[in-house]
Amino acid sequence: MAETVIVPDAATGGALAADAIESLVRARPDAVLGLATGSTPLTVWRSLAGRGLDFSRVRGFALDEYVGLPPGDPRSYRATIDAEVVDVLGLDPALVHVPGDGLSGAELAGAGERYERLIAAAGGVDLQVLGVGRTGHIGFNEPGSSFASRTRLKTLMRVSREDNARFFDGDVEAVPMHCVTQGLGTILDAGRLVLLAFGEAKADAVAAAVEGPVTASMPASAIQLHRDVLVIVDEAAAARLRFADYYREVWDNRPAWSR
Ligand code: F6R
Repeated sequence: MAETVIVPDAATGGALAADAIESLVRARPDAVLGLATGSTPLTVWRSLAGRGLDFSRVRGFALDEYVGLPPGDPRSYRATIDAEVVDVLGLDPALVHVPGDGLSGAELAGAGERYERLIAAAGGVDLQVLGVGRTGHIGFNEPGSSFASRTRLKTLMRVSREDNARFFDGDVEAVPMHCVTQGLGTILDAGRLVLLAFGEAKADAVAAAVEGPVTASMPASAIQLHRDVLVIVDEAAAARLRFADYYREVWDNRPAWSR
């Protein structure tokens, strides 16, 4: 099922994604979650935190990590996931993995394959949370990424580094140029995708991802190849969706059995 839901604000969107995660974790206490960092999913974790769920057996796989930050750097995605997800939800840190975690230089060779093996050994990701960048990246798969790609080293586009400079005191040069990211093929293997986007800066990427041609030039359009996708956007991020009225109609009239 591919569904696009337009919500009034980020808090409502986060709660909706949290509903999907809650049903999964209630049904499967050792579910495997795919974790995104960045600003977008924060409302998801906040909403989940107040629900009295037991996350102690839930396993987590982050989408991506910067290359070149010292271990423990608070701007690393490992530190971000620990602070914003592991601590907030009460996950077991030993069950939460980040690609290329703390590795640099030659140590990174084979990190992608090792990460893929870890995901496979966990039985695959049940639900992958996704944000989207202005370049259309999901994970850090920038334009040109193969739809068949697996976890590997990538180079960030300048605009993505500019967007993330807010975490580096506004200094774009301080944002690492390289990262390790799950591939589009890795992401597409997850059982369910939940992509969130809020704010007008995301409107073009959302329209292209949901309705545009499926093309490696717009990596997020890969979601159209997945059979179970929930896209949650606020009005501003939905502004360029051609079929927005139809998505509203579908959501407002969904049959009771599918709620
Ligand atoms: C983060 C990730 C990225 C972000 C995207 C949007 O792990 O993989 O794709 O989801 O850059 O970032 P925010 O949410 O900060 O706008």
